[in-house]
Amino acid sequence: MEASVRFDTNFNAGMIDRRIFSGFLEHLGRAIYGGVFDPDNPLSNEDGFRKDVIDAMRDLQMPFVRYPGGNFVSNYDWRDGVGPDRKGFPDFAWKATEPNLFGTDEFVNWSQEVGTKPMLAVNLGTLGASEAAALVEYCNLNTETHWASERRRNGTPEPHNIKMWCLGNEMDGPWQAGHMPAEQYALKARNAARLMRGIDPTIELVAAGSSGRFMPTYMEWDRTVLETCWEDIDYLSAHRYANNTANDTPAYLSEGLVIDQILDDYSGLLSYVKALKKSKHDVYLSFDEWNIWYRERGGKNRDGEWQVGPTQLEEIYNLEDALVCAQFLNSFIRRADLVKVACLAHIVNVIAPILTSPHGLLFQSIYHPFQLYSQKAHGLSLTPSVTSETYEVEDVGDVPFLDVSAAYDPENGDTSLFLVNRSTDHDLDVNVEITDVHLVEAGISKVLTGDAPQVANSWIQPSLISPVDGNVSIQDGTFRVEVPRLGMAVVSGAKTTKR
Ligand code: AHR
Repeated sequence: MEASVRFDTNFNAGMIDRRIFSGFLEHLGRAIYGGVFDPDNPLSNEDGFRKDVIDAMRDLQMPFVRYPGGNFVSNYDWRDGVGPDRKGFPDFAWKATEPNLFGTDEFVNWSQEVGTKPMLAVNLGTLGASEAAALVEYCNLNTETHWASERRRNGTPEPHNIKMWCLGNEMDGPWQAGHMPAEQYALKARNAARLMRGIDPTIELVAAGSSGRFMPTYMEWDRTVLETCWEDIDYLSAHRYANNTANDTPAYLSEGLVIDQILDDYSGLLSYVKALKKSKHDVYLSFDEWNIWYRERGGKNRDGEWQVGPTQLEEIYNLEDALVCAQFLNSFIRRADLVKVACLAHIVNVIAPILTSPHGLLFQSIYHPFQLYSQKAHGLSLTPSVTSETYEVEDVGDVPFLDVSAAYDPENGDTSLFLVNRSTDHDLDVNVEITDVHLVEAGISKVLTGDAPQVANSWIQPSLISPVDGNVSIQDGTFRVEVPRLGMAVVSGAKTTKR
């Protein structure tokens, strides 16, 4: 099957914000205890951090990691997780015992070792603005005041200087500790924002948007929050977990159209509130939880039976999940004008690209699209004009077989292409033209595919789904890229010069 896509470097969505390749680490299941932090394991360093996890995280090149939750944050007192006196507490969100051995300072240290930056969420469920402001003081001030002095006493003389802050998590959800109506949350978030910015005016703030499109208050919640908080925030959060509960691969692979719809919804709402306020200020989207999550949801996944680091949400990812993961990233890249931050939820063990055992790591299928995109998507997001055959999906409509995004570096003309073939049985031969440049070198193509949508890596067969070399060439001034059925291709290192 053939498809074609045309770009022109003058038609673009602006620079790709590298923060769309961020991640999320929550006190949940084996994400921290037995995941990133495992002091008794010989694979860990002197700080108790798993060295193999650190190496894998470096490879993912995540600019930020959001922490400590998630639902967890809404009943978490950060003060229990700093200093020498650590006491455990029963976590309401996941019914596990939180020993508080890993807290803010450990997370900041771990982030430094990984080469990422912390994006801290504050508890606006069971705590409020003053505790949030105290955490900003603890992290970012060097004053002779209580919490800044505590940080120094706890071993960090210089401020952590945390730039990104989330004002609570999913406060629209009845499952959330301290869940409240939109009006109340909006006022609480605005109050917290003002106190936190009063402590450090340089921080950037994310207000909690809807937990997902499935919520009855979707958009209404977001509108209320935006109308109250507009001038006090920089981003609104969006969350989505895709699923294939219907066990229908072609329908599942149309996920990119749903993501595009969500981005359009938010784009419209943000424009509406900006116009309503006659504001010069802009608020962007922080898509700070996204992934696939449907297999490991109920029962023990919700109830950790008061264990430390129980096995929860350890979803096994397959080929079709990797192709959906790639579509999330294509959508975020195409809407570089809107999506400035996005966090893969999560990073280790809990609905994660990396699984740990006491003896090593397993890279799940979704590790690979994330790693390929994160390493290669630099520069301007070119806006694609796609010609592709389509197939029909109920409730979605006509779905093009080809999903594509592109990054073009205006400094040196380097170009990367990111292509997904949604067809379950036809390879795609894609003709890619960039109308205002000469193609000098085709670069290299890496493809990810497999025998069947359900094929997954396992401890016994860890590399069934991993990138292999693909085919890309220049013919008649255009790229020809082969994208296998049930597959994706990332072309990088392509060189172009302006016409
Ligand atoms: O990522 C798991 C949970 O999903 C998070 O804690 C919550 O924010 C979301 O509902």
